[in-house]
Amino acid sequence: MSDIRCIGIATGGGDAPGLNAVIRAATKAAILKHQWKVIGIPDGFDGLIWPEKSFELTLDKVSGILPRGGTILGTTNRGNPFRYKSTNDGQTVLSDISGQVIANSRKLGIDAIITIGGDGSQTIGHELFQKGLKIVGVPKTIDNDLSATELTFGFDTALHTVTDAIDKIHTTGASHHRVMVVEVMGRDCGWIALAGGIAGGAHIILIPEIPFTIKGVCDFIAKREQGGRDFTIVVVAEGVKTPPELKENRRNNPVGNLIGNAIAAGSHKEVRVSVLGHIQRGGSPSPFDRVLATRFGVSAVELIARGEFGKMVALRASSIVAVNMADAIGQLKSVRPEGELVRTARAIGIGFGD
Ligand code: F6P
Repeated sequence: MSDIRCIGIATGGGDAPGLNAVIRAATKAAILKHQWKVIGIPDGFDGLIWPEKSFELTLDKVSGILPRGGTILGTTNRGNPFRYKSTNDGQTVLSDISGQVIANSRKLGIDAIITIGGDGSQTIGHELFQKGLKIVGVPKTIDNDLSATELTFGFDTALHTVTDAIDKIHTTGASHHRVMVVEVMGRDCGWIALAGGIAGGAHIILIPEIPFTIKGVCDFIAKREQGGRDFTIVVVAEGVKTPPELKENRRNNPVGNLIGNAIAAGSHKEVRVSVLGHIQRGGSPSPFDRVLATRFGVSAVELIARGEFGKMVALRASSIVAVNMADAIGQLKSVRPEGELVRTARAIGIGFGD
């Protein structure tokens, strides 16, 4: 018999479509199945610095949020209670306020917390667990780059956005005989670019895991031209490793622009660049993401009911499993350059600029 009476839910890191679906599922399961009280913690663990900002999540509060993007709890990808930033005499000071955060959660009557977030939030969650907080994790990132889980919710919705954008860019690119560069998200890994590029029928895909050269890209475009194909779609992951000649300007310029300019100089084609940016993080979650998020939310509640703290839910071989947070953090799931998805892309003639 569990001694849990009240749980808290927090969303941390960049938002992703499906966060509200997790909040709704976890709240419903906690109330309907276990009769627990549920507290919404605003803006990740920052919400526990000011406990008065937390509020009760009731069935009414989560009604109607399933199709909504973003998170009704708010989020931040800056806050970290172990390295909390404040200013003293104009100087930035870092302090450890994790003790205060744990004390405030107890003040609120919270027995256990579900932290929904990416690698950063799960790392903080694990540190708080080690300090005695009862915590379970739900993985989240549109980048789909957490090694512990085969998929994160938000990725599928982002792919819909990217595919739709490439479809639209295709028709204008073909009409004007241009090279169309589409920059997509993917800070460390190229999953969105690779899967979105395949789904959208891109001709070249540039990802952080496969080094490329501008010459490689331009030669590919020239070959297409020789074959009578006078337009080219190039999908670029924002985290792509640029060749040395482009590195200097990287800081203040979207990488898509840098690559687009270099292709224009190297191919003598007209080039247009679209940086999709944060539209990939917004919008209503796809049915797949809603189902995955709901499964994650319910499973996180069950982890708490079973007293399995310090664990994170994950998708493996189509089933929801629990993994140790300690094993889940700090390990990126990169695209394998020799993996099946890259081989599939190459087999249908997609180039990687290498
Ligand atoms: O982690 C997901 C992600 O979408 C990355 O691909 C991107 O670099 C980052 O978030 C941007 O986050 P923000 O603009 O919110 O700091």
